[in-house]
Amino acid sequence: MKVVELFAGIGGFRLGMGNHNFVYVNDMNKDARKVYESKFGHIPDDRMIEDVPTEDIPDHDLLCGGFPCATFSIAGSRKGLSKTHEKGMLFYEIIRIVSGKLPKYVLLENVEGLLTHDSGRTFAVILYELGRLGYSVQWQKFDSVNFGTPQHRERVFILGIRGEGFQVFPIIPKSKTVFDGEVLQYRRGTVRTFKKGTFPCLTASMGTGGNNVPLLKKGNNYRKITHEECELLQGIPLGHTECIGGASRYERLGRTLNPNIVKAIIERIEKNESL
Ligand SMILES: C[S@@+](CC[C@H](N)C(=O)[O-])C[C@H]1O[C@@H](n2cnc3c(N)ncnc32)[C@H](O)[C@@H]1O
Repeated sequence: MKVVELFAGIGGFRLGMGNHNFVYVNDMNKDARKVYESKFGHIPDDRMIEDVPTEDIPDHDLLCGGFPCATFSIAGSRKGLSKTHEKGMLFYEIIRIVSGKLPKYVLLENVEGLLTHDSGRTFAVILYELGRLGYSVQWQKFDSVNFGTPQHRERVFILGIRGEGFQVFPIIPKSKTVFDGEVLQYRRGTVRTFKKGTFPCLTASMGTGGNNVPLLKKGNNYRKITHEECELLQGIPLGHTECIGGASRYERLGRTLNPNIVKAIIERIEKNESL
């Protein structure tokens, strides 16, 4: 399939999708692009998506993207899809491109708070906008603990199929991964403890020192989680982000998604394509 990856970050969708033909990739963040280029040999378009005319995007079969979630997450401003709010607007950039290109599939990822934001009205707008372009839409909430990593990370995946579509969700997880260790999280001046067996959700701010920093128990001490441990907790290959460092590497790792989930979804789609 020809694929377009928007808001590509370090390529979580691409990692999960394997050998498909990525015809256009976009992300405005320099370090994300650096990782993407170093691991996939593909230089993403660096323009803000608002500045990319639809005609610049090649025809494709599947458009995917984890669009910025600050407006939807419980921790975010909860301003939702307001057309006057910059980050909520980015969903409408997806709609602009989808309406111009009409790919067979649209696969989006976001924080699970999207489902309940503004008493469900935000999500209703998403369904309405995709529906009016001729997509049948399905969605599922996934937790990374059920997809090969011990991180408790809940995300919603939304799949639009043009026309009548076919059933991809629900994907029933086979097993749960248990975290073998002890962890605390430093959060706004307090320390949270976690049930044994689970690792808290990695966040974009964990590298900046003040908030949501996971601390691992080693002997009698606690230490900050390493970049490599974040890679393993996100289910991405070890060393994937090695070309960047410091807080930026933590940030990129906190923003990415679990490719195992994408893989499970794509396998279902491929199976149906080959019928
Ligand atoms: C939630 S992250 C997506 C992470 C990605 N799925 C991954 O696997 O790393 C959202 C991305 O959107 C990018 N972004 C935000 N606003 C943008 C804009 N207006 N135009 C282009 N990219 C944008 C950010 O740089 C960020 O990498």
